[in-house]
Amino acid sequence: MSTKNFDVVVIGGGPGGYIAAIRAAQLGFNVACVDEWKNDKGGPAPGGTCTNVGCIPSKALLQSSEHYEHLNHHFADHGITADNVKIDVAKMVARKNTVVKQNNDGILYLFKKNKVTFFHGRGSFVAAKDGGYELKAGDETVFAKQVVLATGSNARQLPGAEFDEDLILSNDGALRIGEQSGATPKKLGVIGSGVIGLEMGSVWRRLGAEVTILEAMPAFLAAADESVAKEAAKVFKKQGLDIQLGVKISKVTKAKDSVTVAYTDAKGAEQSLTVDKLIVSIGRVANTIGLNGEAVGLALDERGAIVVDAECKTNLPGVWAVGDVVRGPMLAHKAEEEGVAVAERIAGQHGHVDFDIIPWVIYTSPEIAWVGKTEQALKAEGRAYRSGQFPFMANGRARALGDTTGFVKMLADAKTDEILGVHIIGPYASELIAECVMAMAFKASSEDIARICHAHPSLSESTKEAALAVDKRTLNF
Ligand code: FAD
Ligand code: NAI
Repeated sequence: MSTKNFDVVVIGGGPGGYIAAIRAAQLGFNVACVDEWKNDKGGPAPGGTCTNVGCIPSKALLQSSEHYEHLNHHFADHGITADNVKIDVAKMVARKNTVVKQNNDGILYLFKKNKVTFFHGRGSFVAAKDGGYELKAGDETVFAKQVVLATGSNARQLPGAEFDEDLILSNDGALRIGEQSGATPKKLGVIGSGVIGLEMGSVWRRLGAEVTILEAMPAFLAAADESVAKEAAKVFKKQGLDIQLGVKISKVTKAKDSVTVAYTDAKGAEQSLTVDKLIVSIGRVANTIGLNGEAVGLALDERGAIVVDAECKTNLPGVWAVGDVVRGPMLAHKAEEEGVAVAERIAGQHGHVDFDIIPWVIYTSPEIAWVGKTEQALKAEGRAYRSGQFPFMANGRARALGDTTGFVKMLADAKTDEILGVHIIGPYASELIAECVMAMAFKASSEDIARICHAHPSLSESTKEAALAVDKRTLNF
């Protein structure tokens, strides 16, 4: 079989890979993208973890379950009541699958539009050759001078609790609960109170499951600003999520229809929890399975991630790596930014990713979003800062929405007033954070935000008020 030549071959069609492929094609390169993800019929399903078993399906289920929660608990305040409210879980999951498929198809369309050749199958190194690389792309052999690795990550296994996706679930199984049975688990256990634990725990708690989350760390949401983490812990507890911190899991035992977790609680007492389903969400590990990096001497670090420099260059000439398979936060938008930057660097341009202003969002209700430094990090650095906080309770739009939980908190340099971090817990925090990321990208001061006209009534006025609060001059609080 003849070898097909490309300027750039991207292995992995998740947000890092497919975006790198599109950007490289826009820049005039002859590009191929190889992705092995299969849909339920065995066909191609590009989009990676994000599209298939991550960002997109989790947000679809969060939306459905939030509608259900609103109808059951919040619409009555608006004078809207309904009898006999029911949830068809199988239909909810089927809708989620449709949303996933729309995104898969969207990426295949974008490949066509941008003239990216797509190979469905595994991509792997064969050998370094002629100043480039011979690769397998599914059943075909291809050659490229430039290779972008975007092979993503897999859920971390808890020793002694291997995923069976029936009783012990990774993110994959967690997003398929009720797909066949249409049933909501009565009791759901989650190991790890990170992003997946909180998002998935919220979905099933809203649908009626009794949710217990077991977390090893003594502090809740340690990566977030402490004041946000404290508020979140209070709200989630009130919602009925049972989050136990500082636990040590000793044993996980499966029965026919249940799982029992034996653990030591924070006080050192032996405890046992029996649940219908157990989600294990204790982080993710870089994925290089089947890449055959050994054939070309691709360097991995001690955690199995591909070693890259600040520009995403690996130890091999012409080989780049982006997204979850390299250092840094495992976020879709971080992967995308790296994908674009790498394509531009291949074209001799100055691709750039500002790692200091990558936003984080947790899509619980209230949503949690932040960018930049936390207050505890600034204290640890000994940096002089000023802090301004504004509660949604004092925002007219939040009152009209009936969603006044939380606040916006802005941290700015005490001398220069440059914004150093913004931390939001509350309605549409995921959208509000964009303004703050942009402000930080332009090195704005808190005064800049305070002087900008924000539409009334809007939640974004809370960001402006938080900026005013830095200078102790809020107008509405
Ligand atoms: P991936 O998306 O993992 O894609 C890698 C692709 O490469 C896969 O399709 C894989 O099959 C393919 N592949 C691997 N090896 C090969 C090979 N040898 N040959 C061919 N193909 C190969 N991030 C956010 O920013 N926002 C969110 O809301 C969010 N929600 C999430 C929810 C869940 C439940 C999970 C698990 C993750 C979530 N993430 C979220 C994280 C996000 O999904 C990842 O950061 C993102 O998908 C990483 O993109 P990537 O391109 O690096 O890798
Ligand atoms: P995570 O890193 O967010 O949280 C894992 C949690 O598990 C941590 O709190 C950790 O202390 C705890 N843990 C680790 N080992 C444990 C053990 N043995 N027993 C009990 N607790 C233990 O990881 P998670 O939730 O699995 O998500 C993986 C990644 O996926 C996230 O870090 C994030 O990058 C991405 N993601 C992003 C989302 C978003 O942006 N909204 C949504 C979901 C996932």
